[in-house]
Amino acid sequence: MDNALRFSLADFFFNDNPDVLKPPSDFEEWMSDSRIQACFSFFEQQLLSAPKTSTEILSNLDGKRHKFINLTSYNYLGLSTHPEVIAAAIEGLKQYGLGASGAPLLSGTLDLHVTFARMLAEFKQKEDCLLFSSGLGGNLGTMQGLLRKGDLLVMDEKCHKSLVDGGTLARVKMKFFEHNDPLHLNRILEQHKGIRTLLAIEGVYSMDGDLVKLPEIVDVCNQYPNVRIFIDEAHSTLMFGDNGRGVAEHFGLEDKIGISFGTLSKSFGGLGGFVCSNAKIIRYLKGYASPYNFSCAPSPPVIAGMIKALEVATRDSSLKDKLWDNTAYFKKNLKDMQLDTGGTESQVIPIIIGSSGELLFEMATAVQKRGLFLQPVDFPAVPAHSRRFRISVSSQLSKEEIDTACNIIEDEIAQRLP
Ligand SMILES: Cc1ncc(COP(=O)(O)O)c(C=O)c1O
Repeated sequence: MDNALRFSLADFFFNDNPDVLKPPSDFEEWMSDSRIQACFSFFEQQLLSAPKTSTEILSNLDGKRHKFINLTSYNYLGLSTHPEVIAAAIEGLKQYGLGASGAPLLSGTLDLHVTFARMLAEFKQKEDCLLFSSGLGGNLGTMQGLLRKGDLLVMDEKCHKSLVDGGTLARVKMKFFEHNDPLHLNRILEQHKGIRTLLAIEGVYSMDGDLVKLPEIVDVCNQYPNVRIFIDEAHSTLMFGDNGRGVAEHFGLEDKIGISFGTLSKSFGGLGGFVCSNAKIIRYLKGYASPYNFSCAPSPPVIAGMIKALEVATRDSSLKDKLWDNTAYFKKNLKDMQLDTGGTESQVIPIIIGSSGELLFEMATAVQKRGLFLQPVDFPAVPAHSRRFRISVSSQLSKEEIDTACNIIEDEIAQRLP
C-alpha cells in the first residue's frame, strides 16, 4: 500500500467482507505494511516486572530485555506495589481464594466487598457505593442502568469511550459539547429543556490532563432542574481535593454531583470501578447495571489490597505531596525546554508534537532506544493535528529518574522539533 501512513484505525471500522469472521481486506493489507507494523510495535510491549518507575521490558524493537524508566503506567501513587497493599492482598488470597466465583446478587458478595463499598461511600461522603469488576464496566453499567429511551446523555467531547459506549448501550440520545465550553453546553441544554438529562464530565481529562471547568458547568446546570451531573474521577481520585476525594472536592462542589465514578486501576493500583450516589439509586442500579449483576464480583485479593490502599492513601498526605512535588519538577523542566504541554493542570502531562505521524514514531523509536518508556499517542486517540507523548507522573519517581528522563526528552523530542 503506497500511502499506508495516510490511514489510521479510524478508516477501517466499516467492514464490507461478507464473512463476519474476516476483517476488511484493505485492513489486512494495511496491517501487513512494514511501516504500519513498525508503528504498532510500540503497543502491547511486555513489561517483565511490576509497573514501577523502573521496570524491565521485552522490547518489540529488537526482541531483547531492557531496563526502562517508566513514564507510562497509571500507578500514580505507587500503591500497586506498596508493601502494605501487597501484604493485605496476600492475606485476602489466603483467606478467600482467587475468585469470588459468582455474580454479586447470587453468590459472589463477600464481606470484603461490603466492607470496601461502605468505606468508599464514607470516603466520598455519599450514601452508598456499587463496586464493579472493571472501571470500563462501571461506566457502561451506570449509563445503561440509569438511562432509558427518551433520556438525554450530554457529554464533554473528550469523555472516555466507556461513557459513549454506555450511552449507545442505553440507546439514548447523545449530545457532545465542545471541550470544557459552558456556553456550548448551555445551548445544548436549552434546546433540550424539560428532558430527563444526565451530564457526564471527567475530573481530569485523560489525554490532556486539564481539569473540568466545574464551577462554570455547575452554574449552567443550575438553570435546568432536569439535569443531573455524573463525574468520572478516574484520573483524580486520591490525588485532588484536601481529602483526596477528587476534582469535585477540589472545587468545593461535591454537593452538586449526583453520581460520582472512580476506578481502582489507576491511583489505587488495583482493578475495578465504583460509583457512589444516594442509597435509593444505588439500590436501583444493582437491579439493572448488567456489568454488576451479570458479571462475577471483583477478585477478593484485589479488594483486600484496595481496602489497604484506601487506608494508606488517606491516612496522611505524603504520597499525594510527593506526586505534586514530582509533577511540579517535571513541568518546570519541560517548560525550560519550551515544549507544548497543552493545558495540563494535573499529573497527566502531554507533550504535543503536532500533525506528523512520521515524526512522532521517529521520536518514539529514539526515546525507547535510550531506555525511556514513553508511549506515542496517535490519531484517532487524539486529534490528527495534536499527536503527542503523554507522561503519567508517579509519586515513586526519584529526582534522578526525572532528570534522566528529561535529558532524553530534550535530546530526542525537543531537539527534533522543527
Ligand atoms: C476517564 C476514564 N474512565 C474510565 C476508564 C476505564 O477504567 P479501567 O481502565 O479501570 O477499566 C478509563 C481508563 O483508562 C479512563 O481513562
